[in-house]
Amino acid sequence: MAKHFLITAGPTHEPLDPVRYLTNRSSGKMGYALAGAAAHEGHRVTLISGPCDLEVPEGVDYLPVETAAEMYEAVSRYIGKAQIAIFAAAVADYRPVNVPEQKIKKTGNTLTLELVKNPDILGSAREVFGYKGTLIGFAAETENVEDNARGKLQRKGCDFVVANDVSRQDIGFNASENEVSLVYANHTEALPKDDKYQLSLEIIKKSLEV
Ligand code: PMT
Repeated sequence: MAKHFLITAGPTHEPLDPVRYLTNRSSGKMGYALAGAAAHEGHRVTLISGPCDLEVPEGVDYLPVETAAEMYEAVSRYIGKAQIAIFAAAVADYRPVNVPEQKIKKTGNTLTLELVKNPDILGSAREVFGYKGTLIGFAAETENVEDNARGKLQRKGCDFVVANDVSRQDIGFNASENEVSLVYANHTEALPKDDKYQLSLEIIKKSLEV
């Protein structure tokens, strides 16, 4: 039976001033592949995406956002309509406290930025938005991949977490392939390295079995 998926993708941009921002190396490929795979399987998809240079997959409802705060707001509005939510976005954990209206001038030899924590969107799904559907997070790790992913699963109330080792150049950020483990509360399933679309078909299948 067709389900309604909400998928987050891409990086966020956190403005420093009118011409600069803080971001990360996410291309959006993983989240867009998930959206395309779910749509291909006949599901309804709402894709909430940070700035990406990718074509939106056919048949997907697309909601572009720029900052973590905008992504939080969009997820809070749409998650209630979804039965399955997958958070593949690389959301900036912090944003600048002050964003001046004018470009920051080059003055001293050093510049100190003060940052404040962004809302944890995945962590708000159960506790703040009251979401009761299937919840799948990602974990981008550089060490202790499985343990860190299981910690995220428990803290954020996920059904499973898709864990990837982002210290590797051949997978993860901006690569066309990925190698992930699906981390559940009591077991872990490692999937072989594959292109992000094939892996997405598998992740969509597993999300329907929860
Ligand atoms: O976009 P690509 O170039 O294809 O790269 C894919 C990817 C490496 C970005 C993807 O596979 C991935 O790992 N996405 C999660 C990146 C991340 O920020 O992971 P995290 O371990 O920091 O966050 C854990 C989870 O919380 C994630 O589901 C994240 O979307 C979510 N989160 C994090 C912070 C925040 N403020 N709000 C969130 O919802």
